[in-house]
Amino acid sequence: MIDRITNTTSEGDEDKVLEDTLRPKDFKSYIGQVRLKQNLKLAIDAANKRQEPLDHVLLYGPPGLGKTTMANIIANEMGAQIRVTSGPAIERAGDLASLLTNLKDNDILFIDEIHRLNRSVEEVLYSAMEDFKLDIVVGKGPSARSLRLDLPNFTIIGATTRAGALSAPLRDRFGIIHRLEFYTPEEIEAIINRAAKILKVTIDKEAPKLLATRSRLTPRIANRLLKRVRDYADVNGDGIIDTSMTSKALELLEVDEIGLDPIDRILLNAIIDHYNGGPVGVETLAAITAEERSTIEDFIEPYLMQIGLLERTPRGRKVTPKAVKHLKGIEQLKLA
Ligand SMILES: Nc1ncnc2c1ncn2[C@@H]1O[C@H](COP(=O)(O)OP(=O)(O)OP(=O)(O)O)[C@@H](O)[C@H]1O
Ligand SMILES: [Mg+2]
Repeated sequence: MIDRITNTTSEGDEDKVLEDTLRPKDFKSYIGQVRLKQNLKLAIDAANKRQEPLDHVLLYGPPGLGKTTMANIIANEMGAQIRVTSGPAIERAGDLASLLTNLKDNDILFIDEIHRLNRSVEEVLYSAMEDFKLDIVVGKGPSARSLRLDLPNFTIIGATTRAGALSAPLRDRFGIIHRLEFYTPEEIEAIINRAAKILKVTIDKEAPKLLATRSRLTPRIANRLLKRVRDYADVNGDGIIDTSMTSKALELLEVDEIGLDPIDRILLNAIIDHYNGGPVGVETLAAITAEERSTIEDFIEPYLMQIGLLERTPRGRKVTPKAVKHLKGIEQLKLA
């Protein structure tokens, strides 16, 4: 994948450090996702009152919306230890067994990208989640025996960008399932103001509004754009972020006023110019943009659908009249 400013993954050390400093630590500083917070607070209060571990929680939704952040907040609010792993990191059933047997009562095991667990691991997880028992086979051949071990009362928090890729039996074992929604521009504005305060950046009143509409309604991108604009303002001005600095920096980054970057535009233009607006299969779009199919499905499309530029139909992807209008507008500007 080429380096996109609007890339929603958090690759690279610089990104990791930035994310950790900006990660809200409690419900109060976690902006937006009101319904999610209400439901989780209730579940946490109830569990604490009964002195029981929290039900297993599944958080799903597009990248960068705050799933990992929320998992950590849940652990904080429960006063619980959190262990972090991911679907691809647990290769064999034995890896899972050693993770689970090392947990203590009330611990939280966070499994990122849980849709990427392999089948044999998943099957061990079923009884672990349901009965807090671990079924393992010891020995080989005719002398093999199966053993049932007691596990502590732990909570699994699973996170995934694709709930659809999760098997039904696994999904059914989560008592609390929540989809994270895209944020409103006002919420993104608040997130930018919060980040600016933490990073000690001087930003005027209007600039966060401008940034908010270009951040794909995604906190991770909002924080990253803020940082890039700060770099620009440091080099080309006195470090103060105002609307003029912001617009110039965004222009340099090729992010337009609704947050589209060059790849979004290539994708939408291709559907309009070569396929008469669609429908086009996702594999064709992958070839046109030279991106992986999963990149298109997980990173690019959710936002384009959210703002009504793209539709998924049984026969493929279609652009909307709004997309045509937006892109034509840009072309006219260029011609003028
Ligand atoms: N509600 C929020 N309020 C303030 N900042 C937030 C919020 N949600 C996310 N962020 C910021 O966005 C960054 C990305 O969030 P996070 O890593 O939790 O996303 P994610 O959903 O786990 O993404 P992925 O699917 O790629 O793992 C965090 O570092 C945090 O600073
Ligand atoms: Mg995450």
